[in-house]
Amino acid sequence: MSDEFVPVAKIGDIAPGSAVTVAVGGREIAVFHVDGAFYAVDNTCPHQGGPLAEGWIEGTTVTCPWHAWCFKLTDGKMTLGEFAEIDVFAVRLDGDTVSVARTPTPA
Ligand code: FES
Repeated sequence: MSDEFVPVAKIGDIAPGSAVTVAVGGREIAVFHVDGAFYAVDNTCPHQGGPLAEGWIEGTTVTCPWHAWCFKLTDGKMTLGEFAEIDVFAVRLDGDTVSVARTPTPA
């Protein structure tokens, strides 16, 4: 596993309570800013590919904007069942730069 981090945004680019979509290692990653913390997950919903960065955020749970599957930003697990999950990526802050791990956190 690589522990390489890729700079993706400035802290000020991601308003609290929102998310942006970035590309890391050929993958589309959603980076969320929630209560002063940052979370990075696969942007593509495993149901039918909905864009999770455009979903609703409640606490550290994101709800897909297409059909409302919900995932925890902390570990990528579904909140309503165990039949799907999304990859999560470590986030590192260096000054005002937000960096995301190139490879997902092992489950
Ligand atoms: S595409 Fe996300 S819930 Fe259907």
